[in-house]
Amino acid sequence: MKIVLTGSLGNIGKPLTTLLVTAGHQVTVISSKEERTAEIKKLGASAAIGSIQDAEFLTETFKGADAVYLMEAWEGIGSIFDQEIDFLAEFKKIAHQYVKVVQDSGIKKVIHLSSIGAHSAAGTGSLLVHHHVEQILQTLPEAVFIKFMRPVGFFSNIYRWLPTIQLQGKIIQSYGGGRKEPWVSPYDIAATIADEMEKPFRGRTVHYIASDEVYPDEIAAALGQSIGRDLKWEIIPAEQLLDQMLSAGINEWIAKGLVAMQQAQGDGSLYEDFYAHQPEFGQVKLKDFAKEFAGVFNKK
Ligand SMILES: NC(=O)c1ccc[n+]([C@@H]2O[C@H](COP(=O)([O-])OP(=O)(O)OC[C@H]3O[C@@H](n4cnc5c(N)ncnc54)[C@H](OP(=O)(O)O)[C@@H]3O)[C@@H](O)[C@H]2O)c1
Repeated sequence: MKIVLTGSLGNIGKPLTTLLVTAGHQVTVISSKEERTAEIKKLGASAAIGSIQDAEFLTETFKGADAVYLMEAWEGIGSIFDQEIDFLAEFKKIAHQYVKVVQDSGIKKVIHLSSIGAHSAAGTGSLLVHHHVEQILQTLPEAVFIKFMRPVGFFSNIYRWLPTIQLQGKIIQSYGGGRKEPWVSPYDIAATIADEMEKPFRGRTVHYIASDEVYPDEIAAALGQSIGRDLKWEIIPAEQLLDQMLSAGINEWIAKGLVAMQQAQGDGSLYEDFYAHQPEFGQVKLKDFAKEFAGVFNKK
């Protein structure tokens, strides 16, 4: 199949490109950066350099493809330290543009990277963007088949905790304790998407993706063991976490959204729809990620 991928060689894009090329597909990867071309070609794909916010470029790039993989990149919208950006409005803009571009280019099969939390119109914090994007994509004509992929939190998010792990030997969050939580590896997301490209498309379907299910304290223990340090998961009040993020200059809507998301993680409401439609878990487990984490930690 001829497949066009947004998301460049990001967390999901890189393994996804490799898997699709290996399976014999003709893959075009969209990147905003000319200098990414050589790396994309090295993986056996073609590069299309331009922005996913440029409708004309996207329409030309999508023409003739059998299927497209659509995602929205936070970093493409702007800095999370920019107070002026209305991230929800920008996500909606990209989604409306995808609706137009998919129709103008005649695409009939779409795999869309959505997220855990997309089922709900409230109480999921900044994940609300994914709910709205799904709703907008649902306005595409019925002849366009869409698979909505809803991964849970990526293991790779854990790299954002490196500073407090290094400086304080702590993971600091506003939730924790006695509830297991699903996590996913981007490799398992890529593998699921690559599989779904080859399976039949029918109407609109939702696919949750997860790799493992662990308690917060198990994460601290596994990472601590992998780096040979005593690591604690510390819970601080939501207001304190919010104050820290606002003092660091994080966009207020995002900061409040992250705190609200953690509340939904802590009380389990974020995962209600996930557990009602629980998928088989992927290959990559916490112990595998802990090894990868130790490699990165020890290089720092
Ligand atoms: N982290 C989580 O736990 C989680 C959970 C569920 C869902 N999600 C969703 O997953 C998505 C992120 O996926 P990912 O981690 O695979 O992405 P990623 O690693 O952030 O990579 C996205 C890539 O897209 C490219 N890009 C950015 N802006 C662009 C633009 N305007 N035009 C063209 N290309 C652009 C960039 O590559 P170039 O520099 O080459 O352009 C960037 O590296 C987000 O929508 C996020 O909300 C995340």
